[in-house]
Amino acid sequence: ATEAKRIAVTGAAGQICYSLLFSIAKGEVYGADQPIRLQLLDLPQAQDAVRGVVMELEDCAFPLLKDVSITDDPAVAFKDIDAAFLVGSRPRSKGMERRDLLTANAEIFKVQGKALNEAAKRDARVIVVGNPANTNAMILADNAPDFPRENITAMVRLDHNRALTQLAKKAGVGVEEIDKFVVWGNHSPTMFADWTNATANGKSLPELIGDESWYKDTLIPQVAKRGSAIIEARGASSAASAANAAIDHMHDWINGSNGDWTSMAVSSDGSYGIPEGLMAGVPLICANGSYERVTGLSLDAFQREMLERTVGELVEERDAVAKG
Ligand code: NAI
Repeated sequence: ATEAKRIAVTGAAGQICYSLLFSIAKGEVYGADQPIRLQLLDLPQAQDAVRGVVMELEDCAFPLLKDVSITDDPAVAFKDIDAAFLVGSRPRSKGMERRDLLTANAEIFKVQGKALNEAAKRDARVIVVGNPANTNAMILADNAPDFPRENITAMVRLDHNRALTQLAKKAGVGVEEIDKFVVWGNHSPTMFADWTNATANGKSLPELIGDESWYKDTLIPQVAKRGSAIIEARGASSAASAANAAIDHMHDWINGSNGDWTSMAVSSDGSYGIPEGLMAGVPLICANGSYERVTGLSLDAFQREMLERTVGELVEERDAVAKG
């Protein structure tokens, strides 16, 4: 029998995990032949709630789910893992400044980085979902010096998927027909949804849509503000779509993106003027269990301006955290 993959998931009692855990347990990350063990982490006060979720997981009788453990200790949760979904983070409370939020989360991801460094398999793949996701991922990597930095990523896939549907609708094509679309930078309203190179069935998507003002004045702001629009409409933040994007991110990383571009925030190698070490969304192609950056794109003035804006925000976040 195939040995079970160990998957750590943090924030297990939360909204996103209420969807995410069930998709993982069904085999949506590794596929239908791969048994898995879940190692769930949440805060001490959330342990009862996690136990409730585990009862529901049991009640699904998932054939692939071999074991579920619960802990409030990151070193236990990350022991010998093959993959981690870091969903838990400190939400912004009333009156909390952005800076306080950044430093509160920096503390969490420092501790988790050290635990990852000690306990995880070196080839484990890590996605940070908990906000501020990009900067949290950077702190995690900075505190896990013996863990491969390229195996730590942050999620911009939700923004990517949000844009895909709107582009496909506007162009009258299927979402699966679109390639070479990318979300650059931070998972925040500054993210840059970039259609410049996008194609549908090999034809230029910007030409097919032929409406640049729609792209700049409607599509980009709509994707940027989608999170708020969902809170406004639903009275709660996006959860099922966030879980779905996390699954897509991990699935493609592990199983490949079939030669298509995808968007993941990874540690910058300095290309496209993004300072080295920042976790920024860039275009990637996934194959053979890893990713390769799409290199050599030449950026026009609009692309450069949009990229500088979102990368500027990542620099600000890094500096705010460094000051503490
Ligand atoms: P939630 O508030 O329902 O759940 C968060 C869970 O994390 C809670 O159970 C909490 O106890 C736990 N938690 C807090 N600190 C923790 C720690 N130090 N260790 C382990 N667990 C901890 O939140 P929800 O809706 O599940 O969202 C989770 C995060 O994902 C939020 O930060 C949210 O902003 C972010 N998010 C990111 C997206 C992205 O595209 N990158 C999209 C949507 C949400």
